[in-house]
Amino acid sequence: MATLDRTPIWNCNWIKDMSFFHLIQATLILLYDNGCLGYLPPNFATFESWYDRINQTYVDRTSITPAMALLLFSLGFTHKPRGLVVICGCYQGLAMNFILAGLIAKTAHKDFPRVVALDIDGAAIERAHANSQSLGLSFVEFFHDDARSWCAKNSESISLLYLDLDDPYRGKADYVTIFNLVRSEISPGGLLLAHDSESPVFTKDLDALKTLIVQSQVFSHINSFPVDQAGLLVAIKSTSADPLLRCPRSLPNHLNLSPVSQRLPHAE
Ligand SMILES: C[S@@+](CC[C@H](N)C(=O)[O-])C[C@H]1O[C@@H](n2cnc3c(N)ncnc32)[C@H](O)[C@@H]1O
Repeated sequence: MATLDRTPIWNCNWIKDMSFFHLIQATLILLYDNGCLGYLPPNFATFESWYDRINQTYVDRTSITPAMALLLFSLGFTHKPRGLVVICGCYQGLAMNFILAGLIAKTAHKDFPRVVALDIDGAAIERAHANSQSLGLSFVEFFHDDARSWCAKNSESISLLYLDLDDPYRGKADYVTIFNLVRSEISPGGLLLAHDSESPVFTKDLDALKTLIVQSQVFSHINSFPVDQAGLLVAIKSTSADPLLRCPRSLPNHLNLSPVSQRLPHAE
C-alpha cells in the first residue's frame, strides 16, 4: 500500500510564485484531480458577486477576512454534499454563509443540503437567522444549543463539518471533543474545516485535533491553509476510490493555470 505523503501543499515549490487567487484554485484543482472534491473551483466573478451581497448584509464585523471568505466559498463550491452540513459556532453566520453561497452557486445546483447551525449565544443565533433570511438562505436550521450536546445526539451522516467555537476558558478544546463525537458520522469525501489553525493562541488545541485526525487514518488530505493570520485546517475523509492523496513534487503537466478560466465553472 502507498504511504501518505504529508508535505503541505503550500510548501510545494510549484505553488510559490502564483497569485493568491490562483494559489487557492491550484490547490483545489489538485484536490479535484485526485478525486477528493466534487467540482472544480469557481471563477472570481462568481465569488465577487456573493462577497458584495454577504458583506452588505452584516452589521458586525468578525475575524473572517476576504481571503478566508474566498477559501470558504471555494470549498463550498467544490464540495458535493452527501449528508448534513454542520456549523459549530456560527455566531452571526458570516463564515457559514460563504460556505453555503459556494454550495448553491453551482449552475447545476438542484438540492439544498440539510444545514444545521449551532451557537450557544442566543442573540448571535437570532442575528444569524435574520442574515440568512436576507440572503435567501432560509433553508438553514438554527439551534441555540451547545454544539457538544447536539453532536452527541446526532446520528445522521455529516458531509461538511465547520468548527469555529471558542470558549473563554476552554479555548478551542471543544474541536477535539466534537471531532471525537462525530468522526464516524463524517461521510467518505466529507470535509472537516477548522478555523484558527494558524493562530498561535490556539496551537495546542489545533495540534491535538491534527494528531487525532492523522491517527484516525481515514482522512486522505490534511492541510492548514495560511490564507490569513487565523488560517483554516482542511481535512478530507478518504473515499474507497481514493484512499490516499500524494502531493506531487513538481507542477503536474495537467495543472496549467492559464486555461483555468476556460475550465470554470465546471459543475455537473
Ligand atoms: C469565533 S466565534 C464564531 C465566528 C463565526 N464562525 C463567524 O463566521 O463569524 C465563536 C462562537 O462559538 C460559540 N460557542 C462557543 N462555545 C460553544 C459551544 N460549546 N457550542 C456552541 N457554540 C459555542 C460562541 O458563542 C461564538 O459565537
